[in-house]
Amino acid sequence: MELLKEKILKEGIALNEHILKVDSFLNHKVDVNLMNEIGKEFANYFKDKKIDKVVTIESSGIAPAFATASCLNVPMVVFKKQHSSILNNALYETTVHSFTKNADYTLTASKKFLKENENILIIDDFLANGEAVLGTSRILAMANCNLVGVGIVIEKAFQAGRKKIEENGIDVYSLARISKLGENIVEFM
Ligand code: G4P
Repeated sequence: MELLKEKILKEGIALNEHILKVDSFLNHKVDVNLMNEIGKEFANYFKDKKIDKVVTIESSGIAPAFATASCLNVPMVVFKKQHSSILNNALYETTVHSFTKNADYTLTASKKFLKENENILIIDDFLANGEAVLGTSRILAMANCNLVGVGIVIEKAFQAGRKKIEENGIDVYSLARISKLGENIVEFM
């Protein structure tokens, strides 16, 4: 998506070979016009998938997921992160390891917001190692939902996320695929 790539080149700050700072438009201050365009792009790409709900993971996935759900006119469900597991029969939960943050967290979703056989689209801000998406897909499997696609705003294509998700037969659509990061270096595929 050219508009997003231009924004990344103009405002993104490549801190090192691992991290791109995007806090001026995606995960701190949010560019609502850009989010609306992102929502339209995802909605158009996945329009034939009969999506019942958009699912995201708190917190930075919420803006693009909301924009997408709004275009598709379906509800958005936000999966929550907790640091310690609370035994609660009303929740699905799974442990996710974040390599970027070097920490585990418990991903949870309320059972009442996921219905059997619903078609679910996952939207998230970054794809790195794919662990958040795979954790989300485990919860969707517990709920007997159908994961019909994954939409990613910025994919760090030099990490293993896409491969791990596609190995599970899931379609991944990324709006910007970064092949290389370095101090003040951003290269797209
Ligand atoms: P994975 O799910 O693909 O395995 O990714 P990983 O856990 O390694 O990293 C995911 C978290 O790190 C996400 O934040 C994501 O937004 C953030 N992240 C990963 N790479 C970058 C990057 O290059 N730049 C920025 N700004 N963030 C990155 P999170 O833990 O879900 O927190 P939140 O920001 O959504 O609250």
